[in-house]
Amino acid sequence: MSIDNQKTVILIGAKGNMGQAALSGLRKHKVITASRSGEGCDYKVDITSEESLRKLYEDVGHFDAVVNTVGYCEYAEFTEMTEEQWNNTIQSKMIGQINIVRVGQEYIADNGSFSLITGILNIKPIPYAIADATTSGAIDTFVKCVAFEMPRGIRINSINPTVLEEAWDVYGEMMPGFHPVPGFLVGKAFERSVDGFITGQVLVVDAY
Ligand SMILES: NC(=O)c1ccc[n+]([C@@H]2O[C@H](COP(=O)([O-])OP(=O)(O)OC[C@H]3O[C@@H](n4cnc5c(N)ncnc54)[C@H](OP(=O)(O)O)[C@@H]3O)[C@@H](O)[C@H]2O)c1
Repeated sequence: MSIDNQKTVILIGAKGNMGQAALSGLRKHKVITASRSGEGCDYKVDITSEESLRKLYEDVGHFDAVVNTVGYCEYAEFTEMTEEQWNNTIQSKMIGQINIVRVGQEYIADNGSFSLITGILNIKPIPYAIADATTSGAIDTFVKCVAFEMPRGIRINSINPTVLEEAWDVYGEMMPGFHPVPGFLVGKAFERSVDGFITGQVLVVDAY
């Protein structure tokens, strides 16, 4: 880490809606971007593959923080949701994020940090979102508890936002009574996680 507190931050899912929100809070840092396709990013990574995550960390070399904004979810009524749909969601939003940390703690710098993504639906449930809600709840619990076991001063937090203004046209109809937040506000939560000293925290960003 340099004298002006500039850190090297790996941002996974950088081109997505949540990735762009996170990026707004990371402006002062050297940000290394990655996504599954690698389009418009520095690296390609598939968070559902341990081998791919290991390759990303080895290729990047030194880094102080990992910000993940990836967590693919399938949506259906609980009575209709298949085991495959559950597995797809669990492998990405839950196990994928746990593996980012499990593998990443071997490589990240001393006193580094992990910031994971969850989402308001485990606090404010809506129809069709049981897999998203369940895996978000699992990750919020994971960060609260694993913080006690992180070695070498490494910190970990999750960011639990409501829907973004930038995504309201896609999700708004599914979410009556919700109010979106601007991406820059969610960026502030990522900034607090990366630049602060907090650990084991769930940073909820909601409109009310
Ligand atoms: N959007 C919202 O308002 C909102 C609010 C709260 C929580 N969230 C949560 O935030 C997360 C991201 O949502 P989003 O709206 O940003 O989605 P998005 O706009 O569809 O972006 C998804 C990003 O994830 C990448 N990605 C997908 N699968 C991947 C994998 N296996 N490995 C690596 N990268 C992968 C995609 O990369 P490629 O394009 O290269 O495939 C893309 O950059 C979700 O878990 C969602 O529940 C979103």
